[in-house]
Order: sequence, then C-alpha cells, then structure tokens
Amino acid sequence: MFFSEKYYYIQTFGCQMNERDTEVLSGILKQMGYQKADTIENADIILFNTCCVREKAENKVLSQLGELKDLKSKNPHLIIGVCGCMVQQEGMPETIRRSAPHVELLFGTHNIHELPDLIENILVARNPQISVWGSEGEIRENLPSEREYPFKALVNITYGCNNFCTYCIVPYVRGRERSRYPQHVISEIKDLVADGVIEVMLLGQNVNSYGKDFKDISVDFADLLREVNKIDGLKRIRYMTSHPRDFTDKLVKTITHCEKVCKHFHLPVQAGSNKILEKMNRGYTRESYLELIAKIREYNPKAVITTDIIVGFPGETEEDFLQTLDLVEKIGFDGAFTFIYSTRTGTPAAKFKEQVPLEIKKERIQRLNEKINKIGREINEKYLNKSVEVLVEGISKTNDQMLSGKTEGNKTVIFPGSTSLVGKIVNVVITEPQTWILKGKLQEI
Ligand code: SAH
Ligand code: SF4
Ligand code: F3S
Repeated sequence: MFFSEKYYYIQTFGCQMNERDTEVLSGILKQMGYQKADTIENADIILFNTCCVREKAENKVLSQLGELKDLKSKNPHLIIGVCGCMVQQEGMPETIRRSAPHVELLFGTHNIHELPDLIENILVARNPQISVWGSEGEIRENLPSEREYPFKALVNITYGCNNFCTYCIVPYVRGRERSRYPQHVISEIKDLVADGVIEVMLLGQNVNSYGKDFKDISVDFADLLREVNKIDGLKRIRYMTSHPRDFTDKLVKTITHCEKVCKHFHLPVQAGSNKILEKMNRGYTRESYLELIAKIREYNPKAVITTDIIVGFPGETEEDFLQTLDLVEKIGFDGAFTFIYSTRTGTPAAKFKEQVPLEIKKERIQRLNEKINKIGREINEKYLNKSVEVLVEGISKTNDQMLSGKTEGNKTVIFPGSTSLVGKIVNVVITEPQTWILKGKLQEI
C-alpha cells in the first residue's frame, strides 16, 4: 500500500503562551502522521496560531490569511486553520470565514485537544469546522508535544488571567486563572531535564498568583520555585510574567536564595502616573513600584530589570506622560517593551472618554524609546571587558558568522564560536556593548 507523506506548517503570532501551544499542536499533528514542512507552500495543513492583544497583531493575521487564497485554489485538499486568542472573541470565527472563506478550520485555545477530530471531519466530509470555548476549567495533562529547543523549554504553570487590566483583552480570550498542580509541573520538568533541558521558563499571565485557585492544597509561586530549584541537572529557571501587585517579600527572598532562579526581573509597570495606573486597574502606585524595585535591588544587587510600558492610554496628559519618563529615569530599566495603546473592543478602556490622538501617541512613544535606549546603552557599557555566563542558543539571526545566547539577566550576547557549543553555558568576555546586544569573545581558560 502507498502512503503519501503529509506535512504541516504552523505560523505563530503573539507571546510565549502561543509558542507553547504551537509545540502541543505540532505534537498532535506528528502523532497523526504529519511531518513539519520546510515551507508553507509544501504543507497539507496550515495553522495560524493568532494573537489579538493589539489591533496591529490582528491585522497582520487577516492580511496574511488573504495571501493563502492562491495556495488553496492550487491545492483544494489543503486545510487552512486559524486558532489561538483571536478566534476566542465573540463573532470572530464568523468574521474570519466571511473575509477568508478558504479557512475551513477554526478552534480556540481550550479546544486544542480536539484537533484530530476536527481534521478528520474535514477530511471525511469537507465540512468547515468551528470549535471555540467549551470546558475552560479543565487543564489537559499529557498532550503530546514537539518542543522547539532540546536544551530549553516553556512550562505552563497557570492558564488564563483574573486581573482585568482595563486595556487588556487577554482575560476575555484566555479565560479565568487556573493553576497546574505542582506535582504535574515538577514531573514535567524532571522529564525535560532527563531529556537534556537545562533551562525552563515557567509560564503564566501572572505567575505570582500561582496556586490561589487551589481548594485542596496551599502552595504559592515561591513554594513552587523552591521545589523546581531542587531539581538536579537543571541550571536556569525563568518565569514570565510577574505582576508588580502580587510580588511579595517572600517571593523576593525566595528568588534571591534559589541559585538557579535567574536574577532577571521583568515587571511590567505600564505607566508612571498614579491616575493612569488606577484607571488601568493595575493595583499598585508609582511609589509602591519604586519600593518594590528598591527591595529587589537590595537583595539582588546584580538584578537586571525590564518592563512593559503603554503610551497614550485614554486620559493620558502630557503631565502623566512626563511622570512615565521620570519613572523610567529613576529606575533605569535595562530594557523595555513599549506599546502604543490599542483599543480592544469589549474591554472597559475602549469606552473611556478622552482617547489620545494617534499623532500624540506616536510622538510620545518616540520620546520614550529614546530615553529607554539611552539608559539601556549606558547600562550595557558597564559590561565592557566583563565576563558573563551565556547559554548558547544557536547561530545569530542578524549575523550568521556569530553564535547567539543569553545571559542570566536575559541580555543577548553574540560572539564567534563553534556550533558544537549550542545548548551549553559558556563564559564570554564582552568586547563591544551596544544598545540591544553585547558583542564578545569566548573567554580563554
Ligand atoms: N500578562 C502579562 C502580559 C500581557 S500582554 C502582563 O500582565 O504583563 C503583554 C503586554 O502587552 C502588556 O504588558 C501590555 O504592556 C501590552 N498590552 C496589553 N494590552 C494592550 C493594549 N490594548 N494596547 C497596547 N498594549 C497592550
Ligand atoms: Fe492583561 Fe493585566 Fe492579565 Fe497581564 S495581568 S494579561 S495585562 S489583564
Ligand atoms: Fe496575544 Fe494571546 Fe499572548 S492575545 S499576547 S497570544 S495570551
């Protein structure tokens, strides 16, 4: 009997949550007999794993979907599917079907395990399949997965979000916060380490509220970190994202004392004005944020501190924005992801008065980026001639003569070396610090 090979191609948009889901989708497709396609043109099934956190992310998906029309007309057997956060919005599956009728498969972030049945239904009857929401509360353990890297891994610890920041769509598309039982997290990490993984990134929209939903056991994020820290063979522990509101003293001290937990603190501040922070429902003030950073630095003098900032939130005046610039200056972030506020239908802020004109938002983000880059460069210059430990991740995307890796503080380091070093931790002396990256050379022993 003749079996023809079948290929899949997944395009991932958005954050690490989606990257992790893509690994699970790949695992399921592999189990179904599909192999990874080198190019989108060679695929028998194409999935877009989408993000809707900002309008730009959505527009990108819609325009790229339009481009797939030709592939479908050349190959009528091709299955084009859309999944991820964007699909979870009310009415969106229908909107996508209308604007891109060549999309036959739509499923949400709670429906990933249904993929084999959905594909089967399309193959048998060629009926378009839409499956969104369903049992939000259930966490599915032991789904197959095809991991992107052999030496580092993303590990979910919570799903969903309960914070309802007024600008944010995530709680509406990812549902309520659910924590994974610690024994499941620990046993997954032990298996990963047995497979050669040396770095894990614990994932949640707000990892600090880990465990709050457990009714039968009492365990928090700090307790979990302490357990993960005990795993032999594991070298680095990262986590994403922690909310400044729930960052307890116990957590600061635990991170300090757990030697495997990287001293990189990504703490999204979003704004520097108390008026705006309140309207965003962030649950902290600029003063309490400054205190938290001071405490983190007191316990971890080498802490690398990064953040996310939104400019042009409704009602943000020049005075409010100056407070953000001032906070950036006072803290001296190593780096920041900056975003222009994007109105998301269904969130409270979409209805707020005093929306800021786009021109002003653009001007503010430019001023903000200038300041952040200047400070980041000054901090990086202090690395000149210093030695840093780097986990080598692969060949640099910007220079194929160089390897690229990350320091404990998550700074990108590029340096010449053999690809046999990929997946290893090496010492690199910094020879040329720049704004975004540190260039260096392997330390001679
Ligand atoms: N749960 C994480 C990340 C959420 S999304 C957290 O709370 O930090 C990542 C970042 O996108 C946010 O930190 C925020 O800065 C930005 N963001 C979210 N919604 C946005 C919107 N409507 N417009 C602009 N930026 C937004
Ligand atoms: Fe969105 Fe706020 Fe939840 Fe982060 S904590 S996902 S910004 S609602
Ligand atoms: Fe985007 Fe969903 Fe992540 S909206 S930022 S992919 S949780």
